[in-house]
Amino acid sequence: MTAIQGKRILIGVTGGIAAYKACVLTSRLTKAGCDVHVMMTKEAKQFVSPQTFQALSRNPVHDDIFTEKNEHQIAHIDLADQADLIIIAPATAHTIAKLAHGLADDMVTAAVLATKAPVWVAPAMNVNMYHHPAVQKNLEIIQTYGYRVLKPDSGMLACGWVGEGRLMEPDAIYEEIEDYFGQAHQKDLQGYRILVTAGPTREKIDPVRFLTNHSSGKMGYAIAACAQKRGADVLLITGPTELDPPAGVEVIRVESALEMYEAVMKHFDEMDAVIKTAAVSDYRPKAVSDRKIKKTEDHPKIELVRNPDILEELGRRKTTQILIGFAAETHDLDHYAKGKLEKKKLDMVVANDVARTDTGFRSNDNEVTFYFRNGDIRHLHKMPKAEVAQELCNLLTEMLDKKKGSV
Ligand code: CTP
Repeated sequence: MTAIQGKRILIGVTGGIAAYKACVLTSRLTKAGCDVHVMMTKEAKQFVSPQTFQALSRNPVHDDIFTEKNEHQIAHIDLADQADLIIIAPATAHTIAKLAHGLADDMVTAAVLATKAPVWVAPAMNVNMYHHPAVQKNLEIIQTYGYRVLKPDSGMLACGWVGEGRLMEPDAIYEEIEDYFGQAHQKDLQGYRILVTAGPTREKIDPVRFLTNHSSGKMGYAIAACAQKRGADVLLITGPTELDPPAGVEVIRVESALEMYEAVMKHFDEMDAVIKTAAVSDYRPKAVSDRKIKKTEDHPKIELVRNPDILEELGRRKTTQILIGFAAETHDLDHYAKGKLEKKKLDMVVANDVARTDTGFRSNDNEVTFYFRNGDIRHLHKMPKAEVAQELCNLLTEMLDKKKGSV
């Protein structure tokens, strides 16, 4: 039995020429043993007939929100409830806009609003449409709902333009789906206790002001979620973020570097690995005013004192734990990453260039380089943080298993 056999996959087809590629995807998934149900918008039917999808999926096609094929069911709710995954392929600019703003005037968008299943969106459109700020903004918005965007390919488009906008190839989409369900089955971190720190810290100046940084916590939360899904017992110690904590993860919320220090030290001994993605403030104001500081005519100075380096302290205290640090740099990445690996006695450093605006802080993507103790270096191309988390968990599993084997 393969990981995707028996999975109920809902494919939402919207009105673009790439709708014909959704036929190939439907066929591949059905042949692999998935229970595929296709929903179509009325525009999609301009390109491919519902009968094609019905024949390929061997299930009725849902193309009208008001026509119930079974009077005992409300189709868009039932489909949404029973899906293991919803994938919209191709997703037009118009459908993406509707998803971003919660509109639900057809089968596809209504089912997406009603589902608790993961939602993937595979855009396909003209290159200029794809790069229009409105479309890019809407793609960003839907990612904040947790939807995964399958980046379109570059190449010759049906409209004659060459560039980004071509629907990801059906075979590549199929492989993503196969990987996704494969990983859901993978419990290779079962039995390990993992501490992840995430987000920024806040260092109080007075009751209304603090020092902080741009960390959003997204990388750390993605790692915590991934490790938990792969069976680990995860403790997430997080600075203030706007993110919802991942399901099944124990969370301790802190504000300052000193609070994070206390929480991490308290739990360190029980851990098999620590992953420190948090952007910890190196300094805090020496004195915290208990009253709001009022402006004056002179040039006020805030005197700062050093915060403890949490990771460096873990490096000193560690017994059998694996320690993974992050290095956020704006220049000389290689030099500083290697320095941190040595100084903090880490097993691995994950370095990223925070001067870039398309990755790193706040972004949903990251482009990282892994530095290992034996001098090995591995660079990953730019990818969603959830995928960086998968790669990191693959490496962590290897390190933990190796350590277990050697004791
Ligand atoms: N770190 C920590 N405690 C601190 C500062 C950093 O635990 N007081 C950890 C971070 O969580 C990260 C790693 O150390 O995993 C590197 O953090 P970074 O801010 O990149 O570097 P610093 O060590 O603070 O060095 P510098 O500010 O000189 O770049």
